[in-house]
Amino acid sequence: MMDNINNVIINKRVVVVLVFCGILFLNLFSGSNGDTVGFGYSVRSVGLDSSGKFLTANLQLIKASTILGPDIHSLTLTVSHDTKDRLRIRITDSETKRWEVPQDIIPRQIHHPHSHLRHSFSENHLSSSPENLFPPSENHLYSDPNSDLLFTLRNTTPFGFTVSRHSSGDVLFDTSPANSNPETFLIFKDQYIQLSSRLPKDTSSLYGLGEHTLSSFKLTPGKTLTLWNADIGSANTDVNLYGSHPFYLDVRSPSGNSHGVLLLNSNGMDIVYGGDRITYKVIGGVVDLYFFAGSSPELVMEQYTELIGRPAPMPYWSFGFHQCRYGYKDVSDVEGVVANYSKARIPLEVIWTDIDYMDAYKDFTLDPINFPLDKMKGFTERIHQNGQKYVLILDPGISVNKTYETYLRGIKADAFIKRDGIPYLGSVWPGSVYFPDFLNPAGGTFWGNEIKIFRDILPFDGLWLDMNEISNFITSPPTPSSKLDDPPYKINNAAIQRGINYNTVPATALHFGNITEYNAHNLYGLLEAKATNAALVNVIGKRPFILSRSTFVGSGKYTAHWTGDNAATWDDLAYTIPSILNFGLFGIPMVGADICGFSRNTTEELCRRWIQLGAFYPFARDHSDKSTIRQELYLWDSVAASARKVLGLRYRLLPLFYTLIYEAHKKGTPIARPLFFSFPQDTKTYGINSQFLIGRGILVSPVLKSGAVSVDAYFPAGNWFDLFNLSRSVSAQSGQYFKLDAPPDHINVHVREGNILALQGEALTTKAARRTPFQLLVVSSSSTNGTGEAFLDDGEEVEMGGEGGKWSLVSFSSSVQGDKVVVESNVVNAEFALSQKWIIDRITTIGLKNAKRLKGYELYTKSGRSFAKHYGIKTSFDSSDQFSKVEMEGL
Ligand code: GLC
Repeated sequence: MMDNINNVIINKRVVVVLVFCGILFLNLFSGSNGDTVGFGYSVRSVGLDSSGKFLTANLQLIKASTILGPDIHSLTLTVSHDTKDRLRIRITDSETKRWEVPQDIIPRQIHHPHSHLRHSFSENHLSSSPENLFPPSENHLYSDPNSDLLFTLRNTTPFGFTVSRHSSGDVLFDTSPANSNPETFLIFKDQYIQLSSRLPKDTSSLYGLGEHTLSSFKLTPGKTLTLWNADIGSANTDVNLYGSHPFYLDVRSPSGNSHGVLLLNSNGMDIVYGGDRITYKVIGGVVDLYFFAGSSPELVMEQYTELIGRPAPMPYWSFGFHQCRYGYKDVSDVEGVVANYSKARIPLEVIWTDIDYMDAYKDFTLDPINFPLDKMKGFTERIHQNGQKYVLILDPGISVNKTYETYLRGIKADAFIKRDGIPYLGSVWPGSVYFPDFLNPAGGTFWGNEIKIFRDILPFDGLWLDMNEISNFITSPPTPSSKLDDPPYKINNAAIQRGINYNTVPATALHFGNITEYNAHNLYGLLEAKATNAALVNVIGKRPFILSRSTFVGSGKYTAHWTGDNAATWDDLAYTIPSILNFGLFGIPMVGADICGFSRNTTEELCRRWIQLGAFYPFARDHSDKSTIRQELYLWDSVAASARKVLGLRYRLLPLFYTLIYEAHKKGTPIARPLFFSFPQDTKTYGINSQFLIGRGILVSPVLKSGAVSVDAYFPAGNWFDLFNLSRSVSAQSGQYFKLDAPPDHINVHVREGNILALQGEALTTKAARRTPFQLLVVSSSSTNGTGEAFLDDGEEVEMGGEGGKWSLVSFSSSVQGDKVVVESNVVNAEFALSQKWIIDRITTIGLKNAKRLKGYELYTKSGRSFAKHYGIKTSFDSSDQFSKVEMEGL
């Protein structure tokens, strides 16, 4: 029991409440023979810095253990309210600086006094302000009056801490040692850090902690989630895949209050999730924990991406449909694919080439026989004339070949990762390779220069970064007795405890500045994407499009992602939904999965169902492996017919997808969202794996089973309208399941009341679609006003919605007023104007009770002048004075 007896105001911002409590000295270790991984730490002293902005505690090892290496004796724990919504807890060695994710990758405030400490705790400035030091026999609550997050240091033996939510009293994170169990203690060794938190099993739902293929979006207890970037196909469930994101979202029921937790650490780790506990077991770095207060899932994303970087804007064209394949034989094969799409009247925006285009798989070269330069030039020219785009693949490995100029320039620039003082020799598609070191400024410059030289020859529009985990076809022998190549704690790499060097660059390899691969391994894909993004801005001068397989915290700032090598199976079709939703949480909203499946032969039915779903992925690309049958969408009549139908709707929704990437870029909100983003208080949405939302109010309910012609789809409360047939609707009193028809050519896509969609027309390219007039679909609601937005710019301006940019954001709102529906628009930054005006040529309202036929509508300019009053009116809204208000009469 705790008893508040004293409040001490330290300064305006920070209140420290001293809570005296009976100190429980557990006689934990009597009789112990020392065969435990550790004994935890106790608090030696606690203090506030002179500004009162952060709390610091010195932690002392209770008893040494040698399992998994010697313990670090003295630790410094620092707590700060970085912003009102973000609490940071950092624990590191008091004496020696340790590896951390570099500041230029994830910039964060440096306000920990001990990060460079080489002197003892008693010499630091805390002890020079003794009035701020408290004896370690109390619990310390550290709060900020502006923040909902409260930190409590528990001076038990061993010590623990909690983070809780002021407003609700919910405990969000609780590292208090449990039942004398060393698995719950803080352990801090050079190559093993353990931190464990209790979770309220019945009220906490966790999402995130990737990258893995999991059958369930909500994490299920009893899993060890390993984070170590690896070239493991996404057809493998429950193993570490290409990227590392030690971030989770915790949604508490029944309130729906949500918070996020990031452990910013790039080292390999296992995260053991038991439902009532989460335990991090990390093989290096520091504890750098961030809590994002939410309390809505959207706000968590806003707060998370404020720290890690907001998602990159994407060019408008990247929302069109993409076709790729490993194994296109030559230029005419590829041109044939483009022609066949056009013949089948299926939209094709982007055609891709895989490593087939290269000369002996060497980056920045063209196969002189099958993809010769003259033909490739003609091909790209024709593509561009069609209004289409071309993206090609790059792998990081540079072929070791003295007749290869890229290699020679790389050697000259000293741009490669090294081991034992010479470039590390790996093996990938071209055979022997060296890998550019993107931690080395010379590595980035070299890479950017190669991109420029190649782009000057061949005008590609975007780049695809593959194999960047780094994937290596060989596992080099470890450096004898090196603790890096063979660390004492074995993370569960590839589920079978393969060593961390398995098929990648060995941990003892060195990057610029003597940074070990051991520490920087998980950062490679992020750094490559960052360098590539900078190169594309520089070389093309337009908004870059990059697709990267490997990612880390912050990758979304530079790149899109696809889920890697899935298989053409019904299970994998279903798993794409949790995977895509996860990347939304990781701040990489532009994400898709290989449509129709990458490995194994697809079938007509699977491919048809896959394009029906894939048409609503944020990133929609059909891609397949060389050894499989072809799977372009025109190859089966039924698939082609479905593709025309669903891509037709996707293209009508392009203004929405584009507005959602704008929202993502400004606020971090995903494009594809779990249902609980819009309905956090509907706890039945927490476990949904087979449906998702596009934005706020479009619900996608796909068929995921062979032979099925109906779906059991969950609808949160409200009226939902079938976007393929507006006269069909579903009315859910409270959230409930409905059995919906889903004949072979149909996917259920519904829009909820209260949304206004700015739709455009169908077309074969996004460019053509953008020339069609807008139609406003006003989905009225008797309970709420309708809202919707459309972001407009040229689709490729480098910055999206930036200051001084040529863009406009049009917000629509609707309300039912007596016998009228009033629709209004408001334009922010009315700077975007095309030579051809943006036209709204139809406004459709649905969802009105007892609706009669509309007689007409009246348009007003902003100044109130009546603009027109009849059906079929055309009005442009590219400037704030031209479209202000529409009143629809005759209800
Ligand atoms: C990897 C990629 C795949 C690509 C293949 C050949 O497996 O994940 O998408 O087609 O390499 O480059």
